[in-house]
Amino acid sequence: ENNIQIGLLGLGTVGRGVYRIITGNAENIKRKVGAGLEVKKILEKDTAKLRDLEIDLSKQTTNIEDIINDPEIKIVVEVLGGIKPTLDYVSRALENGQSVVTANKDMIATHGKQLFALSQANHADLLFEASVGGGIPIISTLKQCLAANRITQIIGIVNGTTNYMLTKMTEEGSDFTEVLQEAQAKGYAEADPTADIEGYDAARKLAILASIAFNSRVVLDDVYVEGITKITASDIAYAGELNYIIKLLAIAKETGDGIEVRVHPTLIPYNHPLATVNDVYNAIYVTGDAVGDTMFYGRGAGEMPTASAVVSNVMDAARNLLHEVPGIISCTCYEEKPVKDMGA
Ligand code: HSE
Repeated sequence: ENNIQIGLLGLGTVGRGVYRIITGNAENIKRKVGAGLEVKKILEKDTAKLRDLEIDLSKQTTNIEDIINDPEIKIVVEVLGGIKPTLDYVSRALENGQSVVTANKDMIATHGKQLFALSQANHADLLFEASVGGGIPIISTLKQCLAANRITQIIGIVNGTTNYMLTKMTEEGSDFTEVLQEAQAKGYAEADPTADIEGYDAARKLAILASIAFNSRVVLDDVYVEGITKITASDIAYAGELNYIIKLLAIAKETGDGIEVRVHPTLIPYNHPLATVNDVYNAIYVTGDAVGDTMFYGRGAGEMPTASAVVSNVMDAARNLLHEVPGIISCTCYEEKPVKDMGA
């Protein structure tokens, strides 16, 4: 059988979901792609994580070379997170002509430019749908389905942890620390949850969205960031009395004098479509000059929703390999546009 061989970097929350979908939906995937997918090697130190999923331990490795130097492995799925050593692993995989699927918003938001260049130079796919909005199809939507438009603005709720926290604080008057612990227990929060509550996770996602929507390269440092740590129960209650709700919004606009990118808690009227987005759900409200207003909604974090986006990208990469066009949907042509300084 000619299955397409995959190397999986990391068997944490998302890696686990990826393995479960690839094995559990194997027949469905095979029919849609035209070939089966097989996880050949898993970079993971913790043997218990493999045992938990009844994975044959011969698939386990702690040496990255077993994946990026294996010519049979055509697709590398990176769900380790972080920049070190992940950036090095991903760069080397692309240099070796392996297609890469990543959920790593940190790496794409800060080093996307160099990685896209490597993808282009080596005719290897670099796909990152899961880096923004968990299971919501937003990257391919902006890149392909809405490509005809001049996008004027994006307003997103793109951090599941803080949206979960603000929802519980609004509906149940819960305490900040207690709801943060709940979000961590559910596997929504980052390893270091300050990235969630201080707004940096949302800012990374906004940099990625703005780059694609505005055909430019916006990086994390360009984004004005303010998190939710100063929001109190009484702020939420006062807002409610005036028929407003507080959400952590990621806002990107293209104006005549540059791109504006900012993340901060915002008062929105109760009847705005984004006001109904609760719990771990995310939504991205996109306005295009031809299409008008659109909104994309779904689970923004967690094992299976995020893995849904990753495995769909793996299927895209697999199809491109079968048709001998890897790299065809990677982001290549862009303009360097100015980003407005929003002050610190
Ligand atoms: N910590 C992130 C969130 C995970 O809460 O949205 C998904 O990117």
